[in-house]
Amino acid sequence: MADPRNGGKRNLIIVSNRLPLSVKQTDDGTYQSSISSGGLVTSLSGLTKSTTFKWFGWPGLQVDDPQDREKVSKSLAAHNAVAVFLDQKLANQHYNCFSNQILWPILHYQTVTLNESAWESYKKVNELFAESVADAASDGDLIWVHDYHLMLLPGLLRKRLEEQGKFCAIGFSLHTPFPAKDFWRALPVRKELIEGILASDQVGFHTDEYKQNFMDSCHSLLEATIEPPDKIRWKGRWIIADSFIVGIDPQKFEDTLQKPEVISRIKELEEVYKDKKVIIGVDRLDYIKGLTLKLKAYDAFLDEHKELKNKVVLIQVAVPSREDVKEYQDLETEISTMVGKIDGKHATPDGSPLVYMHRSVPFTELTALYAVADACLLTSMRDGMNLVCFEYVACQAKKHGVLVLSEFAGASSFMNGGCITFHPANTKELSDAIYRAITMRPDERESNYNQLRRFIDKNTSARWGETFIERLTKCTA
Ligand code: ADP
Ligand code: F6P
Repeated sequence: MADPRNGGKRNLIIVSNRLPLSVKQTDDGTYQSSISSGGLVTSLSGLTKSTTFKWFGWPGLQVDDPQDREKVSKSLAAHNAVAVFLDQKLANQHYNCFSNQILWPILHYQTVTLNESAWESYKKVNELFAESVADAASDGDLIWVHDYHLMLLPGLLRKRLEEQGKFCAIGFSLHTPFPAKDFWRALPVRKELIEGILASDQVGFHTDEYKQNFMDSCHSLLEATIEPPDKIRWKGRWIIADSFIVGIDPQKFEDTLQKPEVISRIKELEEVYKDKKVIIGVDRLDYIKGLTLKLKAYDAFLDEHKELKNKVVLIQVAVPSREDVKEYQDLETEISTMVGKIDGKHATPDGSPLVYMHRSVPFTELTALYAVADACLLTSMRDGMNLVCFEYVACQAKKHGVLVLSEFAGASSFMNGGCITFHPANTKELSDAIYRAITMRPDERESNYNQLRRFIDKNTSARWGETFIERLTKCTA
């Protein structure tokens, strides 16, 4: 990463709404930080092993007092993170109202209505990020912006940097699907958002389908020129648009599986479930993850396979997410009701076929759960990539467990028959997929596993990040 404009060094700046640590204030007024969950943090954290960068983002709460800001900034600085402080009302409008009630649904093919004041706040927050990042950047730096919370940032940054006489390369990566052009155009501010992204030098997507959808929108809404396979011409500039396969850090799971406490936890769980087939599900409690469809199909599966009574258990971890958003609160209620009904219908004095955990679990526990499960069931209605499925594979070197993955998760387009796929809203298909998974022959499991394992070992998060940065560096050299 050499650049003569900055003493031969091109620093990397990452910008995302969510930081690797989320800060909360405790009842006694002190600040506590915890590791954030979600695919974005997982993939970027995997890059930290090989690449050094500063990570700008929102700390998750309002901090007004300058001394408190100092304290929060200091604790984040230990993780190379820099806080972009926001007023709580503004952050709420930006994160909950616009990003998660308008952009998130439309990116996942749900219809929405524009909330004008939330749009104003979205613009304002993107401006505040631009101010903070542009001031901190040096001439020649690489700036990599992430996700739908900051779609306007590339445009605002480019303007500010130019005003300050700094020439930085700007990359943008989207961690969600990008929908088909006819869907995207339903959003009244559809043009402004893609114009914002097009101020980048390079734009990354998880799959070719999302990239193509984005290019189609650029062409039909902005009359941008598309030069297949990966170039867009817009306002006299060339922009690279491509898919970059995001992954995990498999070694982190291998190392965790060697820890004595994880080994003994696995033994304990194996004892608890010794006569049962274990199916694991790990999802943020989000409607795109298809949890209601999963429970409906599991109920149908239990009805159909009475011979498996007390012989199968679904352990579903539902990580709390976006709890201030009404749709997520309603989902929580709906899922709890469904869980209660399934439990009431199928549980016996010997146990329940469903274990529902609505909380975040420690990484060691998560790893142990992945390791003991005979199958992993992920039923997303839409999902940018889905990293949980790769994590499950990383923990299954001994068991060769079966991956049962919705055809609507980005990851399914890379699995080439190594897993069972299904349409999540087809209850019968999904119930049959569960049955096939827990009755699959060992030789088929092994050959599927080997195929998936090769994929996750090759396409790590480090490789994803390094490839993106290398191409961004080249295209702006
Ligand atoms: P999304 O980005 O939509 O949440 P992904 O499947 O891509 O979906 O990523 C979810 C990530 O969150 C995984 O890497 C998973 O391990 C991680 N995760 C799940 N539970 C926790 C937890 N309790 N703490 C931290 N990370 C978690
Ligand atoms: O996968 C999309 C995404 O927005 C990621 O950026 C993030 O890791 C995850 O969902 C969790 O979202 P949030 O930041 O709202 O907790």
